[in-house]
Amino acid sequence: VAPLKVGIAGLGTVGAEVVRLIETQARVLAGRSGRGIRVVAVTARSKAKKRGVDLRGIEWVKDPLALATHPGIDCFVELMGGAGDPALAAVEAALAAGKSVVTANKALLAKHGLKLAKAAEKHGGALNFEAAVGAAIPVIKTLREGLAGTGINRVYGILNGTCNYILTRMEQEGLSFAECLKDAQRLGYAEADPSFDVDGHDTAQKLAILASLAFGTKVAQSAVYVEGISSIAPEDLRAADDLGYRLKLLGVAVRTATGIEQRVHPTMVPKSSSIAQVMGVTNAVTIDGEGIPPITLVGPGAGGAATASAVVADIADVARGIRANPFGRPISQLRDTKKAPMERH
Ligand code: HSE
Repeated sequence: VAPLKVGIAGLGTVGAEVVRLIETQARVLAGRSGRGIRVVAVTARSKAKKRGVDLRGIEWVKDPLALATHPGIDCFVELMGGAGDPALAAVEAALAAGKSVVTANKALLAKHGLKLAKAAEKHGGALNFEAAVGAAIPVIKTLREGLAGTGINRVYGILNGTCNYILTRMEQEGLSFAECLKDAQRLGYAEADPSFDVDGHDTAQKLAILASLAFGTKVAQSAVYVEGISSIAPEDLRAADDLGYRLKLLGVAVRTATGIEQRVHPTMVPKSSSIAQVMGVTNAVTIDGEGIPPITLVGPGAGGAATASAVVADIADVARGIRANPFGRPISQLRDTKKAPMERH
């Protein structure tokens, strides 16, 4: 069988790590997929930048759109980020050309996921995005495949590594918000514009994707109520501590009598609860399914290696010829997202 030919747009910490993993894990991946996987072409903003990976023998393409429609690739991997162009135009072009797409871009999916899933359905390519939520944690597959036969009542968790890292260090070391954010940026956890992290939008984007998969509704970031952590001071964390609580930024999507309620806000959680034990860049997602006790997945939610791990797994699925409905069911079966009024819990 011919190897799967991959084109990668975006060679930041994640993209470079994907190139490296495909090279070093080649035998394992070929064993899993039944065929080889080869990175044949790439594009990024700067050709000159040092990335610590060997790009010899890989074609350098001038821009994302040219790569997306490159006749020599089967699978377009979008790691540029951002809800608009060039990512949107490139992913649309790749899908229209019948190629499969792998992306880590939660902003793009939360805003245009439905349109992109329609294009994938129409032209037959896969649209895989395990890395968009919880990085290395296989939460998309868990909701889409693992729990395919289970009704879901609630999904909630810590979905932003940067915020949890900041809250952890503020609490444990009494550091200021600004200092902790700077470290999260230095470690490569934060978004290019970190206000997406600290104002809760990154969590909202991930929650919108999980809610669609959990409840069979159309993905819609606009249906999420959002409040971030930028006004939280060390004193707030100390006050919570005195009362036996910890502050966490949670994303919660829950089925109510009037629709699906989706919200993101700092939440006091009892120190004895399992979610309170989740520290640093770690993410955790709890899924309440009908008739079974809650399932919690915990793991690294940000960073180059953790994100690349999920991207490579998605590429391996494409190589194997697995093509899931991106949001778990055919588009015609996804229901409109009714924004439920906020209830107090
Ligand atoms: N900025 C994101 C986070 C990256 O901190 O969780 C992973 O999506």
